[in-house]
Amino acid sequence: MAALLVVAVLAAISHSEAVKANSVSFASEYRHPPNGICVDYTIKQDVTSTNYIWDLEKFTSNFDTIEFLTELARKDSKTVYHPVSSNPKNETKTYEVSATFCSPKKANYGKDKIVLLATHGLGYDRRYWASAWKPKDYSFVDFALDKGYSVFFYDRLGVGKSQIVSGYVNQGSIQLALLERLVELVRAGKYTGSIGKPKNIVLVGHSFGSFLSNAVISDQRNLVDGVVLTGIAYANATDLATADSGWGLEAFAARIAKFQDKKWSNRDTGYLNFGDIYGHVNGFFKAPNYDIPTVEYAQAIAQPFAALEFVSTKLFNLNASAFKGPVMVTAGENDLLLCGGECKSTFSSGVAEQTFKSSKDLNLYVHPGAGHGVNFGFNATVFYGKITAFLDKNF
Ligand SMILES: *[C@@H]1O[C@H](CO)[C@@H](O)[C@H](O)[C@H]1NC(C)=O
Ligand SMILES: *[C@@H]1O[C@H](CO)[C@@H](O)[C@H](O)[C@H]1NC(C)=O
Ligand SMILES: *[C@@H]1O[C@H](CO)[C@@H](O)[C@H](O)[C@H]1NC(C)=O
Ligand SMILES: *[C@@H]1O[C@H](CO)[C@@H](O)[C@H](O)[C@H]1NC(C)=O
Repeated sequence: MAALLVVAVLAAISHSEAVKANSVSFASEYRHPPNGICVDYTIKQDVTSTNYIWDLEKFTSNFDTIEFLTELARKDSKTVYHPVSSNPKNETKTYEVSATFCSPKKANYGKDKIVLLATHGLGYDRRYWASAWKPKDYSFVDFALDKGYSVFFYDRLGVGKSQIVSGYVNQGSIQLALLERLVELVRAGKYTGSIGKPKNIVLVGHSFGSFLSNAVISDQRNLVDGVVLTGIAYANATDLATADSGWGLEAFAARIAKFQDKKWSNRDTGYLNFGDIYGHVNGFFKAPNYDIPTVEYAQAIAQPFAALEFVSTKLFNLNASAFKGPVMVTAGENDLLLCGGECKSTFSSGVAEQTFKSSKDLNLYVHPGAGHGVNFGFNATVFYGKITAFLDKNF
């Protein structure tokens, strides 16, 4: 009897190991959509940026992480908590970024010369845009290629196949400089497969990637031709959903990544991860707008983010009042992180209209029922359709 039990347990273990091994190799797949002609690039560039210096002790355990979360979340955090020193430093360094460029196999009125340059948010890598799980339902890149657009999408610094730098160094200013450099290189026709120089470049962002894309057009009004900002909102000062809510990491139940899983052993303790799948859902999904297998895929491809990156979200200049190109701003109706769980009122506050005062076409769209991670919610293709309709109208 005892022996039988052991066999049964072993069988159960090996079965679950096999399932795990399968799901891991499936999840690690960086997919080239079959309707695209795709090329992978490794891009090494020097950039100069004005960087903040981490001013706390480095975390040695999750008790330190919890203290960081608690202090960030307190209502007077902005005045009493200073994780970075007040004097930023100008630094020039070389960074390596891993990217994919896809142009459509089937041409559609020369739209392949319109390049969507997509920047993902915290917690993911470029697979946020090109899901290997049910791509017909969840891959923005597949959808955009079907409509004839080309897409350049990359792993931000510190995630996926891009260079890993310390989580106490990696921050918005470096990534802003990198994104601006990527735009220049794509504009010059490098890294655009066989299409050569693009006619237009439109930045597409999600969450932190939207903050970065917004910061680009605030910094340089003529660098790109349009922007599509997803998973972002512009709250007024009295909106309970102030856009820089420090409690986001509490929702994630963020914990030190390298203590969670040995696949993150090359990150220092400055890299945090969703505490578990429920913390991920808390930040990115809203019932009943998702199914569990899709969330499990999202969790399998999740990436740690730098503590300083999260803090630096508040340091971007988002005033893009001089940018004249078309701007689309969109979020899920129930985005917890940017709208405090209810986006309709936040979107009607008038702040986006001020932020993008000169835009020739400002389009604000709240996607029904979705949470923050719209690409992995139900009806993501309806959402993609709104984006490409906006692009079709303007380009
Ligand atoms: C950093 O560079 C910026 C832009 O070139 C400049 O305005 C600023 O004074 C520099 N800051 C420091 C601390 O050197
Ligand atoms: C945005 O920048 C413009 C131009 O620099 C300035 O006139 C305007 O007051 C700024 N808006 C806000 C809300 O700071
Ligand atoms: C700010 O936004 C909130 C929520 O959208 C709204 O109820 C309030 O009227 C707005 N306040 C001002 C001063 O515009
Ligand atoms: C979203 O998807 C659900 C389930 O497929 C459907 O019932 C609903 O009408 C969709 N909503 C929108 C806005 O497309």
